[in-house]
Amino acid sequence: MGKYDFDKKIDRSDSWSLKWDVREGELPMWVADMDFETAPEIKEALSKRLSEGAFGYSIVPDEWYNAYISWWKKRHHLDIKKEELIFSTGVIPTISSTVRKLTTNDENVLILTPVYNVFYNCIKNNGARVLESRLIEKDGRFEIDFSDLEKKLSDPQTSLLLFCNPHNPTGRIWTKDELARVGELCEKYGVTVLSDEIHCDIVDPKKEYVPFATASETCSRISITAIAPSKAFNMAGMCSSAVFVKNPFLRHKVWRQLNTDECGEPSFLSITAAVSAFTEGEDWLLEMNEYVYQNKLFAETFIRDNIPGVRLIHSEATYLIWLDCSALTKGRDDLAAFIRANTGLFVSKGEIYGPGGEGHLRINLACPKSTVEDGMKRLKKGIEMYCNSSSK
Ligand SMILES: Cc1ncc(COP(=O)(O)O)c(C=O)c1O
Repeated sequence: MGKYDFDKKIDRSDSWSLKWDVREGELPMWVADMDFETAPEIKEALSKRLSEGAFGYSIVPDEWYNAYISWWKKRHHLDIKKEELIFSTGVIPTISSTVRKLTTNDENVLILTPVYNVFYNCIKNNGARVLESRLIEKDGRFEIDFSDLEKKLSDPQTSLLLFCNPHNPTGRIWTKDELARVGELCEKYGVTVLSDEIHCDIVDPKKEYVPFATASETCSRISITAIAPSKAFNMAGMCSSAVFVKNPFLRHKVWRQLNTDECGEPSFLSITAAVSAFTEGEDWLLEMNEYVYQNKLFAETFIRDNIPGVRLIHSEATYLIWLDCSALTKGRDDLAAFIRANTGLFVSKGEIYGPGGEGHLRINLACPKSTVEDGMKRLKKGIEMYCNSSSK
């Protein structure tokens, strides 16, 4: 029994939560937002700030820089200097701003699919084109197709690689060798790497993620890294993140565009949330990761023993699981909608993540075990009903 209670259920149904904006009796396990209360230490720091009662503009204080610098040094073996870090209101704002600044109309931004669906919006909404390189699955593990990657990087219209490390939705932690190889190819073809590392603190016990920028000197020089406490500490609504850029020329571009887009100023609570997470949240994070890992093991066993035809891709990071149901859907894309309509379980449909997502489901397990049990029962029932209805 640990210090923190992850079994505790919190009622989020009346809190204007995006995740819980559902019909009575529905069970949302879709968006990457946890159902755990954040660390009590963070709650206390925020309450203290709120009790001040004056909610004016905030600076980005030294405490904020120091919190990131110490956390990344200690947990991820990455040396960051104060001047290499920029505040941003979110990882998606950072990606959108960077795409706009570093690409001209109709240039390609390369992504490795299946991947976080909002990447598509960030690219298209900013006048660039999406270029996809599909990951290859080998024995339940996703791998980069390096020859396809090189082909697409070598297109002179490709100027940016939007990378996800660890990868959402597959849960892959890329190895140092893979990252270094990606960096080498990007440098060869003059492509900048924007590495979204928002999920980096949610890893299975004994697993470690490797920051893109630490894989090689080249990786460090050609990359922009987006990081945040939001996923790991359940504070996505705080709009609090950072960008780390070693290369001063690239950094200036990112800083300029974030400020032009007015994404560089913190809200009243966003600084306190980040400082508290990175200075007081480590014990909570370790317990949370262990709890989520147990949820993953439970779901894996349940699915293997109870839901034939569905394959769980074992993830090493994130609190998301990625299920291959393509043997059952046989080209149809209505499974998630069917399950929601018939059982109330709301999960993400794989098709939104691009090529390779067809016939898959993404399920969020950052919730009390009793919720996972409920979700798994509904999943079993929904899939049985789906198979019966499609065999008629
Ligand atoms: C890979 C990835 N990047 C970015 C985000 C969202 O980032 P933010 O809320 O900081 O804009 C998410 C949220 O699920 C995500 O999974």
